[in-house]
Amino acid sequence: MSLFSAPFDPATDTALVIGAGNGIGRAIAQALVGEGVRTVFADISAERVSAAISASVRPELAVPWVGDLAGLDACDALLAASHAALGEVSHFVHSASPPRREADHALAVDRRTWQEMHAVNLDAGFHLAREIAKRLIAAKRPGSFLFLTSLHAGTPRNLPHYSTAKAGMAMLVKELAKTFGRHNIRVNALVPGAIAAGGFVADASLARHIPLGRLGAANDLAPMALTVLSNKLSGYVTGAAFVVDGGLSLTNWFEAPALDTLS
Ligand SMILES: NC(=O)c1ccc[n+]([C@@H]2O[C@H](COP(=O)([O-])OP(=O)(O)OC[C@H]3O[C@@H](n4cnc5c(N)ncnc54)[C@H](O)[C@@H]3O)[C@@H](O)[C@H]2O)c1
Repeated sequence: MSLFSAPFDPATDTALVIGAGNGIGRAIAQALVGEGVRTVFADISAERVSAAISASVRPELAVPWVGDLAGLDACDALLAASHAALGEVSHFVHSASPPRREADHALAVDRRTWQEMHAVNLDAGFHLAREIAKRLIAAKRPGSFLFLTSLHAGTPRNLPHYSTAKAGMAMLVKELAKTFGRHNIRVNALVPGAIAAGGFVADASLARHIPLGRLGAANDLAPMALTVLSNKLSGYVTGAAFVVDGGLSLTNWFEAPALDTLS
């Protein structure tokens, strides 16, 4: 049988995607149900969740959940709802993040915005992943988790609440991968570049810094996400970060050679 024809087992694989209402999370959640995986679509926006599910190829496999994941009580409610709907959650995807506003630089960002960014990205990520893992370990079931981090986990973004939350998330991936590995639970990061998906208002002129010559789209992330999530395709991969950026991170103070002027 082809290696790629059935990356998931619909009889045992289940998924929870947070931030499934828009952008990259929506594309990943829709791709998972497309592979026959029962998936909880979780987001703060009811309207977005319902639109994301309606536009899925197999909406009957999608379970909606709406709440604000900046609070741990809401995270517990999401866990209870997910386990009630799916049994164990074998695949967890963290793609939820509050809006980033360019005005929130180091001298301007307020305490609430700082805390919300860390709460959704880091605190919710840790709490949800740990609780899902505890149940998988007790049930002796494998799992695979994926966190959307950022190139700005390692370079400044002029948004200190965002870059520090992503830097924490990048280390959380490594900590969890190391601790959960013996229990056959893999934890990896997906690192998008400039993806015109909703959360990032991209200036089209940025394309000139991207070797592949265009901004990314949410659907550029979903195939890599599913590959890394699949135990069949990536069963020996954990603690890794996969950059999907069209080459954006290769940019530095040297321009690429102008080959069109060479004979
Ligand atoms: N788009 C990019 O260029 C880019 C680049 C690097 C990293 N990322 C990361 O990828 C992930 C997805 O990015 P995107 O552009 O698709 O974002 P997006 O804003 O389009 O989607 C994020 C989703 O999270 C939801 N959300 C926000 N706050 C929430 C809360 N408190 N509780 C529950 N849900 C909440 C939003 O409603 C939204 O649907 C994010 O973690 C982002 O930081 C994106």
